[in-house]
Amino acid sequence: ENVEASTNGGATTSLRNGRKTGRDDFLEMVEQAFRPASSRKRLGELSEGLRKQFLESMEDNPLCMLPSYNHQLPSGDERGTFLALDVGGSTFRVALIELSGRDAGAGQEGRILKGATFKINHGVKQLKGVLFFDWMAERIEETLSGHTGGHDMSDAPLSMGLAWSFPIEQTSLRSGLLQGMGKFFLAADGLLGHDLGDLIQASCSHRGLNVHLNAIVNDSSATLLSKAYSDPTTRFALILGTGVNAAIHLPVHTFAPPKFGTRPEEWHRCAEHVIVNTELSMFGAGILPSTIWDNELRSVHPNPTFQPLEHFVSGGYLGEIVRLVLVDGIHTAGLFGGVVPPTLRESYSLETETISYMESDRSENLSKATAIFTSRHPRPSSSPPSLSDIQAVRTIASLVSTRASALVATGVHALWCLRNESESIAAHQTEHTLVAYNGSVLENYPNFKSNCQGFLDQLVEGSGGRRGVVELIYAEESSLLGAAVAGAVAALDVDDVVT
Ligand code: GLC
Repeated sequence: ENVEASTNGGATTSLRNGRKTGRDDFLEMVEQAFRPASSRKRLGELSEGLRKQFLESMEDNPLCMLPSYNHQLPSGDERGTFLALDVGGSTFRVALIELSGRDAGAGQEGRILKGATFKINHGVKQLKGVLFFDWMAERIEETLSGHTGGHDMSDAPLSMGLAWSFPIEQTSLRSGLLQGMGKFFLAADGLLGHDLGDLIQASCSHRGLNVHLNAIVNDSSATLLSKAYSDPTTRFALILGTGVNAAIHLPVHTFAPPKFGTRPEEWHRCAEHVIVNTELSMFGAGILPSTIWDNELRSVHPNPTFQPLEHFVSGGYLGEIVRLVLVDGIHTAGLFGGVVPPTLRESYSLETETISYMESDRSENLSKATAIFTSRHPRPSSSPPSLSDIQAVRTIASLVSTRASALVATGVHALWCLRNESESIAAHQTEHTLVAYNGSVLENYPNFKSNCQGFLDQLVEGSGGRRGVVELIYAEESSLLGAAVAGAVAALDVDDVVT
């Protein structure tokens, strides 16, 4: 039985000596494994642990807590038309954005004039080195020329801003050194440490595109900038889609000088604050509450230590954690009649989107959840899974997603504590602060955002703050808008600095 289990989808029966259990016992055991991670006490401890890890990495870790060079929050007066690029985990978006200023109000501050979304499929993710950037340039060309009213290439160069959903070591507002990308992308292969701005600009020039890249921001910083453009109380941003990340507005003095690179820049001396790309995904090593299924996930991951937190919470992994638990339950507790649907044997074959749809079905007969599951994962025999099998998938999914929402809230709480400390603000005196959020999991996964807010409120209250004082608020089109705002801010005179 153990042999079969470990070859059929990597289940973890051997970890429990291959013992068979009943369905209820199994689900009870899964609950015991996941639920305690979300207890107030455990979350408080974890928050403290994360805060310490943030502080340590601010001293000397070159991979995270990355100052962005965005030391100005937008004043809200930035205006103009910009070409915004957004390289995400599964799509590349290109859009012409018009910024009309904070005064325009009611969602009219920034508008997409035209744009296109291109899927980044497996083949594109496999493009190595400049081939990926050439692919991007081709898509930009398509977007600019494929519509009536396309940009006339004889005009002055179009100003471009890029939101990049991967780590980057910024070297100026418009440049940064490429780092390992994660999310199964190979573009950085052979190009680590190369300048991302130069790479994109070169590929665009080869195609004769009259564009000029004048801002690069991580998507978390883009989200913070996009919301701060309309609401000046924004101090944090949270992304949770394929990956996870957060940005925070922090005093410059909290950083050890080496964090700003070897060449001291003029703005370090005059700026009070800087937006920091935390690369939140990389924290949590050694302190996150691992179950046997989390261990299993890591044991076959190509880069198991790169982004510990991400493996617990992001859309790239939630489906896989559920799959590992489910396959275990099929082998050891007779779920699905003891037979793994063939499409579930492959790693990452259960998509987070599928479990999200299943959790959204609250009907008694779970017909929608059953239909979605069976359409994606048909059983070898034509008989549909039983109601209790579908219920079991939902139970497992809910445990996995609730834990994820708790861990994400803990990350935000730890950042809030860090900011209070560095601004010398007592928790009970903190003012209402916005956390701009974006990303498919926070936006679409049933109850995820409200659970996350609930855990955050508990944690804030537990450390002496008022409930609701840290508020998650949706930032629509935050990567594209943020890229445009970053482009506009980059063009601002240093005298207009709002610190
Ligand atoms: C990943 C990347 C990070 C990005 C996040 C959200 O964790 O490392 O740079 O911001 O995903 O897209």
